[in-house]
Amino acid sequence: MPKIKIAPSILSADRGKLNEEVKEIEDCAELVHVDIMDGEFVPPKTFKAEEIKDIKTKLPKDVHLMVEHPLKDGFIDSYIDAGASNITVHEEAKDDIDECLDYIKNKGLKAAISINPPTPLEKIFKYVDKVDMVLVMSVNPGYAGQKFIVDVLPKIEELRRLKPELDIEIDGGISKDNIKKAADAGANVFVAGSSIFGKENRKKAIDDLREAVK
Ligand code: DX5
Ligand code: ZN
Repeated sequence: MPKIKIAPSILSADRGKLNEEVKEIEDCAELVHVDIMDGEFVPPKTFKAEEIKDIKTKLPKDVHLMVEHPLKDGFIDSYIDAGASNITVHEEAKDDIDECLDYIKNKGLKAAISINPPTPLEKIFKYVDKVDMVLVMSVNPGYAGQKFIVDVLPKIEELRRLKPELDIEIDGGISKDNIKKAADAGANVFVAGSSIFGKENRKKAIDDLREAVK
């Protein structure tokens, strides 16, 4: 099983002081998770590439694109320029997924594919050998602070059986009360928004997650 990684999501951070917020998690997390929404794939719109570029951190930027058209002119490039180390596209997006993944990989970044809770795992079988990570959504995307959907765990179990060494990320509703269940199913990369940035002491919140996953 690959290494456990905690990826705090800045969707739950104070947008007015992202650098300060990221500083607080920099020494205790492995990634910083960046949620990009276009107002079409999901109703909200979030961070522009410039805001992400302004975040100065040693942590890899784990960019999660909840957008209909990742291949829109210059779009992926703007997040590469903003310092993304890996970029995730959704199976449910409207552009050609192979093309998206190839584009990201050809630029030297890690590429990942994500599936929403209702999407069956079979839909991504054709991509699992070319991606660096699979992101299994455990809420319907769009908002932080939603309730964890436990029914997605069998998809993670099946994927872990299939790919023992692959990074499997889970995103949505992760807390110290359910992280162990997700880890036992086979997830090793844990996104957490409200259960980290919603807490006063972010370092303790991350320690609590790590403790719970043991
Ligand atoms: C939801 C986003 C998540 C979100 C997680 O659409 O993809 O990354 O920020 O927030 P919590 O952990 O609060 O569910
Ligand atoms: Zn996300």
